[in-house]
Amino acid sequence: MTKQHPLAIGLDGIAVAETDLSLVDGINGLLVYRGHWARDLAIHHTFEEVAHLLWFGHLPSEQELTDLKDKLKANRELPEHVKGILKLIPADVDMMSVLRTGVSALGSSSHGFPPTIDEVIALAAKMPTIVAYRFACLEGLEPLAPNPELDHTANYLYMLKGVKPNAAHVRALDAYLILTQEHGMNASTFSGRVVSSTESDLISSITAAIGTLKGPLHGGAPSEVTEMIEAIGTKENAEPWLRNKLESGGRLMGFGHRVYKTIDPRATALRVVASELSSNDPWFDLATHVEKVGLQLLEEYKPGRKLNTNVEFFAAAVMRAVGLDDNLFTPTFAVSRVVGWSAHILEQAGNNRIIRPQSNYIGTMPE
Ligand SMILES: CC(C)(COP(=O)(O)OP(=O)(O)OC[C@H]1O[C@@H](n2cnc3c(N)ncnc32)[C@H](O)[C@@H]1OP(=O)(O)O)[C@@H](O)C(=O)NCCC(=O)NCCS
Repeated sequence: MTKQHPLAIGLDGIAVAETDLSLVDGINGLLVYRGHWARDLAIHHTFEEVAHLLWFGHLPSEQELTDLKDKLKANRELPEHVKGILKLIPADVDMMSVLRTGVSALGSSSHGFPPTIDEVIALAAKMPTIVAYRFACLEGLEPLAPNPELDHTANYLYMLKGVKPNAAHVRALDAYLILTQEHGMNASTFSGRVVSSTESDLISSITAAIGTLKGPLHGGAPSEVTEMIEAIGTKENAEPWLRNKLESGGRLMGFGHRVYKTIDPRATALRVVASELSSNDPWFDLATHVEKVGLQLLEEYKPGRKLNTNVEFFAAAVMRAVGLDDNLFTPTFAVSRVVGWSAHILEQAGNNRIIRPQSNYIGTMPE
């Protein structure tokens, strides 16, 4: 009999790395980035400050922050060949596939292994431009050049909407982007680390991570949350619709998490952010009703599974409140998570061993 290895379907409960980037405590509902509560970072800091924390290990001094902002600003423009590719891709190709292709097309400038921090910053700077460039093409508008007066999040909104965004929208989106920059060994981060562990280049690792994030069980959920709320339509319809979904074996989008067996702390923080922007919005009123009924029904149909609201439920609400179209939700998630992906890739490169698990053969042997 051939040796069989311990089986962990979905790698549930298996640690494949030591990290000092983040703690995701699913029992107590805690999220820490390098010794700081993520929710406090989201309230008191900016995208660039938290990116500096994750990439360099500490919150920046004033000079370090200026340097990072300058580097990001200097790297926002896309090479002409990437713009050409973004224009050529047929309009019915989804945004995440376009982002994956646009990032992949940057590959020629990659330096191989190990990646440098300058490569990482250049890539994080360009991803919002790829999304905004493609969005403008789809809308039949002339893509806007990045605005060097604006910081990362404000510039992203500016390129998407064509006007300087108001401060409340920038603040809300900044909070969302900070809360989703990093999250332990989630599926897309794992993909990125697997690719990097073969000593492949940064662009290949991030391309794999984008492809992983796209799936509806991971980062593809927020647009499915808005589709669900739209399909439900009225408060009266919430219970029959959700019940029908669960009875037919379907999953309620925006609920449940592999690690969190209590409320996702990012959902708690984003609920506050979304409610501040949406006080008179009937959509938000319906969404909070759907959340309440959804939680009750999950307890009824899946007792003991500890299914709670996850980050995607209120991510959808925040992105909708700042005026982003549904097709921008998951790409915007990628625009933030590239910080965590690249921080993990740098960490992997610093202490690399190829990630190579096993499978147990259960087929027949030749006679
Ligand atoms: C996130 C997610 C993929 C985690 O999956 P997981 O850790 O593998 O959880 P499991 O698939 O083992 O689920 C355990 C049980 O809860 C059920 N369940 C989990 N999430 C559910 C959901 N959102 N709706 C209905 N049932 C759900 C499963 O059907 C399973 O039931 P069973 O014990 O009768 O077989 C899962 O909760 C999910 O699909 N959620 C909806 C998509 C989503 O919001 N994704 C964003 C994540 S941030």
